[in-house]
Amino acid sequence: MENGATPKYIPLGESVSTGDQMNILNTEQKQPHTSVMTKEVVEYLQIRDGGIYIDGTIGAGGHTEAILQASNNSASIIGIDKDPEALNLTEFLLRPYRENITLKQGSFADMESICKTVGVEQVDGILLDLGISSMQLESSGRGFSFIRNEPLDMRMDPQTKTTAADIVNKYSVDELEHVLRNFGDEPKARRISKIISEARPISTTKQLAELVSRAVLLNMSTKQKVKIHPATKTFQALRIAVNTELKDLEVGLLSSLNLLKIPNLNRKNSYGRLAVIAFHSLEDRIVKTFIKTESTDCLCSKKQPICTCDHVARLRPVTRKPLVPSSHEILSNPRSRSSKLRVAEVLDRQVHNV
Ligand SMILES: C[S@@+](CC[C@H](N)C(=O)[O-])C[C@H]1O[C@@H](n2cnc3c(N)ncnc32)[C@H](O)[C@@H]1O
Repeated sequence: MENGATPKYIPLGESVSTGDQMNILNTEQKQPHTSVMTKEVVEYLQIRDGGIYIDGTIGAGGHTEAILQASNNSASIIGIDKDPEALNLTEFLLRPYRENITLKQGSFADMESICKTVGVEQVDGILLDLGISSMQLESSGRGFSFIRNEPLDMRMDPQTKTTAADIVNKYSVDELEHVLRNFGDEPKARRISKIISEARPISTTKQLAELVSRAVLLNMSTKQKVKIHPATKTFQALRIAVNTELKDLEVGLLSSLNLLKIPNLNRKNSYGRLAVIAFHSLEDRIVKTFIKTESTDCLCSKKQPICTCDHVARLRPVTRKPLVPSSHEILSNPRSRSSKLRVAEVLDRQVHNV
């Protein structure tokens, strides 16, 4: 669903088609997705009984389930995901908690309007666990992975217009280079873009992965080691572009400021908290910069004697450095190895007297 569109409400327990959910579960693996840093998320969000939380990327619902259990099953969750298949699966997996969860299809960039539609003005915590899930990567059939041969789609929300094939086949070399450089940090963006443009039309992940590998490995000596698959960065860049991931993150972070609860003074530990798990440096940089900016009063140049920006801090960083998974978690879930969790708390300016 595009930003600004009316999100769909999926009532828990109504649109379940058990066969589909079981297919997702049984095709490749028993567990569709292993949630990352769940213990840390629950601890740092300071889950409270009866609290209201937004899980902006509910996926297979692992974090939501942990939040509900930490609240003695008394919290309410607004679970958002762009991917209707993920929502259907969560609906099935979390059916014991159906009273506690409201599922909405859409982007967390639209979480303010989504909350309005369910009559929620403020929440105790917001979780964004960015990127894609294992089930999207491994069994969605939508071309997120270069390991499988699938149509080049990469849309989390199948209603959005632009697919990865559109970008690969219709963008000019300059536009493609821009995507690969800015969303994939791909140093060979120009060469890859040229090779792609000469080989069009490209319709499958296999075709694309082979072309990109050829472009990346060209002129490399056999001694030079390749640490990751040569198409990793290109696939990441296309996925980010197709799903407007960085723009959504910027908008979603700003929206969180309007939703996090500033409580009454005599309740302890009850400031709204934001927790974001990033999986690559582009996302993490946006989160880090956002928390730094929103934790700072004046943003004017240091050389300027008088503040003219009138910027007022609205957050307090809870994690000065990002939390990372334990070695034990990395061992049991290698996908977690690149994750970074940053947490911030809303500031009550009267209490903090600033
Ligand atoms: C890493 S998975 C989340 C897994 C989840 N935390 C769990 O425990 O199962 C990321 C999910 O976020 C969704 N997603 C990514 N960007 C989104 C956005 N801007 N708005 C809503 N959902 C998004 C993806 O479709 C995917 O299902």
